[in-house]
Amino acid sequence: MARQSILLTRRLPPQVEARARASYDVIDNPDDRILTPQELRERAHNGKVAALLVCTSEKVDEALLAQLPDSLKAVATFSVGYDHIDVAACKARGIMATNTPDVLTDSTADIAMLLLLGAARRAYEGDRLVRAGEWKGWHTMMLLGVQPGGKRLGIFGMGRIGQAVAQRARAFGMRIHYHNRSRLAPELEAGAEYHASPESLLRVSDFLCLNAPSSPATRGFLNSERIALLPEGAIVVNTARGDLVVDDDLIAALQSGRVRAAGLDVFANEPALHPGYAGLPNTLLLPHLGSATIETRDAMGFTALDNIDAVLAGRAAPNPLW
Ligand code: DGY
Repeated sequence: MARQSILLTRRLPPQVEARARASYDVIDNPDDRILTPQELRERAHNGKVAALLVCTSEKVDEALLAQLPDSLKAVATFSVGYDHIDVAACKARGIMATNTPDVLTDSTADIAMLLLLGAARRAYEGDRLVRAGEWKGWHTMMLLGVQPGGKRLGIFGMGRIGQAVAQRARAFGMRIHYHNRSRLAPELEAGAEYHASPESLLRVSDFLCLNAPSSPATRGFLNSERIALLPEGAIVVNTARGDLVVDDDLIAALQSGRVRAAGLDVFANEPALHPGYAGLPNTLLLPHLGSATIETRDAMGFTALDNIDAVLAGRAAPNPLW
């Protein structure tokens, strides 16, 4: 029987690509360039592809789907977030869409803690001082930060990653508050205090950690009105999606000190982030590293392939989005 063909839109970890090649005819992207919709269409038609394995860099919208061959059965994203995929349009065409939940929970929660601690303890300023040769020696008032222990951590979006952040933050002595669309069961709350409204959460968030997916309901969530509800000198962490934040508003608050510091791993229009961030000393910036560990990226790739294998074999996908 002829092997089925799949299109990998980006380079993937070597073991993941090897497994894909062992099972399928692979159309790859050796230069790892972000392909235009036209290039995606051409490659998909040339190979009469049965599945696309995409990343967050490719927008799979109705217009693209309408131009892909009828052979296409699955769109598997190498990510837990799927705001770049029009799931309803996939469903309407009978194309299964899948993601890679669970396997990146720990690595993303780790990065959230790194940003939280780094922002609180002024890691960027300290690193810059040392590298620039401007460190004149230890003194009692140098780069004083704030201590997370005993402070309130407000988690906006208490799904898997939010819960993993809470677990880590408890070990630092933080008191956990959260808002979520629905309240968690007591065993998952583990003592965290639920806030039925985001506004109530913001009022108690000495630290605010954004962990909600990007959706019409959450885009632009952290704007100047909501920042004004935060305690004076709050610290903001975002490992979810950049478009949850209104950049101009957060940058103004960081400039004035209304928000003491921020740790950001995600940005609207990545990698072309708002130029206002680069000059802010009180902001620790990472290039979307949430899931960037060797172990996690392998697991994401294998999970995406598990999803494709299932769909192309006529079985239920482990991580269906519809
Ligand atoms: C995801 O999985 O959604 C991440 O943002 C990619 O690392």
